[in-house]
Amino acid sequence: MAQLQTLERLVASKGFPLYVYEEEAIAKQVATIKEALPDFEIFYSVKTNPYPQICRYMSRQGLGADAASAEEVRKAVDSGFAYHNILYSSPGKTPADIDATLGKALLVADSYNELAMINSIGQKRCERIAVSLRINPAFHIGMGSSPEITTAGAASKFGVDEESLLFNKPFIDTLEFIDITGIHVFLRSQVLGDDAIYQYFKRVFEIAAFCQDKMDWNLSLIDFGGGFGVPYSPTDQPLDWNTLGQKMKELVTRQDFAGKEKPRLIVESGRFLVAQAGSFVTRVVDVKTSRGQKFVIVHGGLSGFLRPSVTNIVRLMASGDTGRSFEPLFSSQNAHLPCIPAKAGEPAEPVTIVGNLCTSMDVMARDAYMPNPQVGDIVCFGNAGAYGYSLSPSDFAGHPRPREIYLNAAGLIAEDFL
Ligand SMILES: Cc1ncc(COP(=O)(O)O)c(C=O)c1O
Repeated sequence: MAQLQTLERLVASKGFPLYVYEEEAIAKQVATIKEALPDFEIFYSVKTNPYPQICRYMSRQGLGADAASAEEVRKAVDSGFAYHNILYSSPGKTPADIDATLGKALLVADSYNELAMINSIGQKRCERIAVSLRINPAFHIGMGSSPEITTAGAASKFGVDEESLLFNKPFIDTLEFIDITGIHVFLRSQVLGDDAIYQYFKRVFEIAAFCQDKMDWNLSLIDFGGGFGVPYSPTDQPLDWNTLGQKMKELVTRQDFAGKEKPRLIVESGRFLVAQAGSFVTRVVDVKTSRGQKFVIVHGGLSGFLRPSVTNIVRLMASGDTGRSFEPLFSSQNAHLPCIPAKAGEPAEPVTIVGNLCTSMDVMARDAYMPNPQVGDIVCFGNAGAYGYSLSPSDFAGHPRPREIYLNAAGLIAEDFL
């Protein structure tokens, strides 16, 4: 988190609420993932945080972009990513989406209908279009640090079921204006177990081998997804990148790629790269006590930063079942622990932190502890760099949208886009 003096300077000049992103923290994550996975290309998942400076930093670092809409493809192009380093994958693409992105990104079809649609676009243009296909694998992966790979795949709106491939081969073979040159798998987000990720990647290699051998596809690209997690709550064990890196090196070394040229091996990452680099910064606007409970009211709650409030929605909906994750809305109950940086280390008292929106759902932290909160205190919520601004209903209740600030490696505001 940025130094107190920096925060004070920022809030004095920019107001509240603010998202502050720090390049230094992003750089550390980029270095970690690159070092651990030298055989893989890293693609930044734009939806996690599409702030232009962040996207540009990722492209300058040689990462690719994982785009989830035609608009994200446009943002990736504007941020300097080259065509062959942008993958466009999402369910339910329209012909207009394909027209808008052809030649700007590598396409990943999400269903047999999409393959047919892209084929007819190719036919109209009299050109063969190279596409990847998203596959919903016949296994699943658990959360946490244990290697919970299950053999049963879940029903999903994403991709085509692995076990349906062979049955659909005759149909796919009639599509003369597409070449399936890649596969894409993504199972889940916020995984902290190195062995779970290793087992998952191993299975994706098996799917790729099946596609080469049985489907007769000449794969030049395998996108493994990723789901690399961050420790949100103090009890979370961070992902062991040393062990994961070792296992991945061995795994890649064991592949013979059927004697063909090694395909591009791609992983996607959003949260791991940016979550810890961002803070949601606001201030106390009122403090009151109701029937013995102290409420600290901060400026701009769920409209600026939705994720903490969802913690409480989940608590209400799934009482007794809060160990589950509802990504990308909810990771764990204490994922964004708030603090008053100016009073760090001072004795704290129990409080409920709420936003100033007219809804009782606007709870930023229940059962929190704060040192003598006073009107005007700066309050920071950590781990706010991923699925923060972009996921929050900023137009709700007419409060000002948060501003976003990007601090470069020297700790200076790089450029203000608003
Ligand atoms: C297809 C795909 N790729 C990448 C991501 C990014 O995941 P994460 O932020 O866990 O790295 C997501 C997130 O939902 C996704 O759906």
